[in-house]
Amino acid sequence: MILGLHQSSQAFSCYFQSLGIGFRPRSPGIFQIQMMRQRSRPPRGLFITLEGIEGCGKSTQARLLGEYLRSQGHVTVETREPGGTPLAEKVRSVLLDRADEPVAAETEAFLVFAARRQHVAQVIEPALARGAIVLCDRFSDSTLAYQGYARGLDVPLLERLNRLATHAVTPHLTLLFDLPVATGLARRRSATELNRLDGESLRFHRKVRSGFLDLAKRHPTRMKVVPARASKETVARAVARIVAPMLHRVHRADSHTAAPHAATSRAAQVHHALR
Ligand code: TMP
Repeated sequence: MILGLHQSSQAFSCYFQSLGIGFRPRSPGIFQIQMMRQRSRPPRGLFITLEGIEGCGKSTQARLLGEYLRSQGHVTVETREPGGTPLAEKVRSVLLDRADEPVAAETEAFLVFAARRQHVAQVIEPALARGAIVLCDRFSDSTLAYQGYARGLDVPLLERLNRLATHAVTPHLTLLFDLPVATGLARRRSATELNRLDGESLRFHRKVRSGFLDLAKRHPTRMKVVPARASKETVARAVARIVAPMLHRVHRADSHTAAPHAATSRAAQVHHALR
């Protein structure tokens, strides 16, 4: 009987550990439930995310930064969220579709996390393990800003669910492109087809912006605020100044000890996951 209890508690514990929830015996028969730090191998590459309100120019800056890094001999993977894999792109379409059915805040969050888990597992972790520089247009901070600060879901709960979705993969650097909401929305509305979230109120987008700025205050080492009202060239120069000191962490494709043709084939690995 005691053996049976021991075995079933072990099976129970294994199941929850796979979900990132640990059971630690405190005293015989008493278990403490705690969220475990996911054990993941330290990535070799560099993970940079680009965040901001609608129309802040982050997608343009991701493209320019990718070009700059490749011109310096680095291998880059450019990707985006929600999306980045065929399955996650389907989730993106569902999330951003302008259908009439109201979408609950929790539904938004679960869709985003489902897409993120797939994206991290299929694209981000393998790219970092190969030593690439991953440039991701939106990531976890968007969930905290949109579903947390703006929709009102509990931010600490979102952070815990996010750890499950990311296996604790965290950007080395997050560039937050900041500009007034009215400027961003005006840019956005003149440039692209609008998605469901673009159509939210000015008040909603203001909460997103102040959420991002609050996150930047909470994580000053990881998150750098880049004023985004200037021309795209000026903003790109500011970005390069922030990124350049971090590049010593990653090998350049052409600085490998391998033969020159191997360097070329590494450069050929440059992979635009989406564009
Ligand atoms: P964009 O990347 O083209 O700006 O569009 C993505 C939209 O998805 C944008 O309105 C923000 C929204 N979004 C969330 O609400 N939560 C998230 O976690 C992410 C990544 C995006």
